[in-house]
Formats: sequence, C-alpha cells, structure tokens
Amino acid sequence: MGDPLCIETTEPALFAERLRQSMRASAISVSLITTRDQDGSFHGMAVTSANSLSFEPPSMMVAINRNASSHAVLLRSRAFCLNQIHSGQMEMLDLFCRSEMRDARFVSPDWQPGLHGLPWLRTAIASLFCHVEETHDYGSHTVFFGRIEDIRISPRIDNPDPLIWINGAPAQFEVAQGTRQRAAS
Ligand SMILES: Cc1cc2nc3c(=O)[nH]c(=O)nc-3n(C[C@H](O)[C@H](O)[C@H](O)COP(=O)(O)O)c2cc1C
Repeated sequence: MGDPLCIETTEPALFAERLRQSMRASAISVSLITTRDQDGSFHGMAVTSANSLSFEPPSMMVAINRNASSHAVLLRSRAFCLNQIHSGQMEMLDLFCRSEMRDARFVSPDWQPGLHGLPWLRTAIASLFCHVEETHDYGSHTVFFGRIEDIRISPRIDNPDPLIWINGAPAQFEVAQGTRQRAAS
C-alpha cells in the first residue's frame, strides 16, 4: 500500500488540490505594484509574489500573470513601484485585485507621482521604485527583476503591521514577544 501522505501521480485532481492547499498555507505580505503608460495613465494590481532579491544590487522580483492588464504596460515601461500595504488597507487591496474595480484604483489622493512619474501610495509602509533589468517567462507568468532606484518609507516602518494573506484571506500579524529586544541586542 502506498504512503497516504504522498500523492500518486495518477491522481491529477488530488495533486492540484494539494498544490492549492500548500500554496495557500504560506503567510505572505501584500503589495500593490504600479506602473505608468506612455500616455501617463496609471496601472496596477495586488501581488503577493513580490520578494526582495538581493542587497547587491538592491533588487526585487515579482511574478505577473500574462493575463493581467498591467503585464503589457510593465513590459513597455520597464519600471514599477512596489507599495507594501498595511493591515488597515483591505479596501485598497479590494480595488487592486478585482478587474471590475480597475477604473477606481487610483482615485485616492494618497496616490502621488514619484520617480519617473510612477504612482506611489503615501500611506503604504514602504514604496520601492524599480527599473526592470530582466524578465523571465515561466508558464503563465513573467518574472520581473527590478533594480531598486528610490525608496519612500512612512513612519509605520518602525512598527510595521503589513497586510498578511493566508488561505485566501487577510490575517492579523503580531511581532512575537521579545523579538525586538533580541534583534536589538
Ligand atoms: C492577495 C492577492 C495576491 C495576488 N498576487 C498576485 C501575484 O503575485 N501575481 C499576479 O499575477 N496576480 C496576483 N493576484 C491577482 C491580481 O491582483 C488580480 O488578478 C488583478 O485583478 C489583476 O489586475 P487586472 O484586473 O487589471 O488584470 C493577487 C490577488 C490577490 C487577492
């Protein structure tokens, strides 16, 4: 008899379900990636795939589905801003992950033009302006490798409360007791 914890490759439906479950089980912070078209119009969407890549060079990577409306704009503009949102910004996430809300994404006055006219969110925990140095297509997505050229941080950076996404829903985040003291010593 096979190991009940292993997936038989003959069971594609079970494989897909366990894949979905295991991917959803990771706790990840949410960012809003933004970019700007040649005509100056803003584009953006919610992402959990944004990750720091290296300090040298300062860089980020983010995976964008080819079907997303921002995908073609990112390829053209070769520039993006990653705005890490906080736990009180669920409404902003809602705008940026629902296609029918696309036209309402940048109505808040908290969006301001920054480096190269890229929109950045004044109330985000941090906003990182990146120049796309490389792209890599993989399956349904393109991975964008961006060199960080400018950074805006809000006072929240000292006590960050990022919007965390797990199991298809937002979750509360709390720094474990004593962590700060240990990190400081
Ligand atoms: C929490 C969350 C994280 C997401 N992360 C990504 C991501 O990393 N990459 C991606 O391509 N789509 C991601 N999406 C989906 C897009 O945000 C969503 O499809 C969006 O509507 C695409 O923009 P569009 O409607 O203008 O095409 C995510 C959605 C949610 C709710």
